[in-house]
Amino acid sequence: HKREGLKDFIHISDFDKETIMKILQKASEVKALLKLGDRSFQPFKGKTMSMIFTKPSMRTRVSFEAGFSLLGGHAVYLGPDDIQMGKREETRDVARVLSRYNDIIMARVFAHQDILDLGRYASVPVVNGLTDYNHPCQIMADALTLIEHIGQLEGAKVVYVGDGNNIVHSWLLLASVVPLHFVCACPKGFEPDEKTVEKARNAGISKIDITDNPKEAVKGADVVYSDVWASMGQKDEAAFRMQKFQGFQVDEALMELAGPKAYFMHCLPAERGVEVTDGVVEAPNSIVFPQAENRMHAQNAIMLHLFGF
Ligand code: CP
Ligand code: NVA
Repeated sequence: HKREGLKDFIHISDFDKETIMKILQKASEVKALLKLGDRSFQPFKGKTMSMIFTKPSMRTRVSFEAGFSLLGGHAVYLGPDDIQMGKREETRDVARVLSRYNDIIMARVFAHQDILDLGRYASVPVVNGLTDYNHPCQIMADALTLIEHIGQLEGAKVVYVGDGNNIVHSWLLLASVVPLHFVCACPKGFEPDEKTVEKARNAGISKIDITDNPKEAVKGADVVYSDVWASMGQKDEAAFRMQKFQGFQVDEALMELAGPKAYFMHCLPAERGVEVTDGVVEAPNSIVFPQAENRMHAQNAIMLHLFGF
């Protein structure tokens, strides 16, 4: 297929369904090995990775670094003050220099154009560790978690409640290759990018609903999903957003409306008492920690795929 030789992992929709499912299957297999304590699979032995961060991170940083090392490789962390991409040095120069030291580059940036530029100028694979536009590694981990908990990804009803942000865009891009019922319940003015919604709808394989009624939206959900109301880079809007998002908190009453089969998911970090209550995060049907754990396994499989394993 046309996308088989793709160098980078920047959008889920750059890949076809077969490839996405193959990566998720690989993630399960390598996860099983690692969970057994088996450290004999060392495909990244002799490989190095640079990890560029212009924003804070716990999960992305540690899961990439630990995962790469568990499979035999060495990862170099470059924080916001280190290479100062786009400030001390142009992105296209960073891409070309790091390609001469490393076998792969992972980056977390503000502007989506920066990850596109890295991909364009790097001669090695580039993995998107979150931009203002999307967060593909997160949604691959979420897909793996969904498969583990509800048995399958196809046809799942995923109801996201909150800001139409990077997490939503990656769900929409997943829904444009894998059949889902994806619902985004967000306040007016905080809808996801229109073009991305159109792309998911035009793919014609998933049911996509955008609504401002969370109570209606969650009915029959397999998953109710939440994320912060003010993303990285928007923290100065937190108070304003807090006002605008009243009625969009995922609380016990909303989970009750969702029904007994609904799991709660959140990419984390969570602000308890803001977008979600403490009770919902701590409830037995909350799978936020298995979800976080799966970041490492999904990413290992993504990197294996990019290396041609
Ligand atoms: N979910 C996620 O990407 O977490 P970090 O910001 O801690 O990496
Ligand atoms: N939407 C959040 C996700 C954090 C993992 C942000 O961009 O800050």
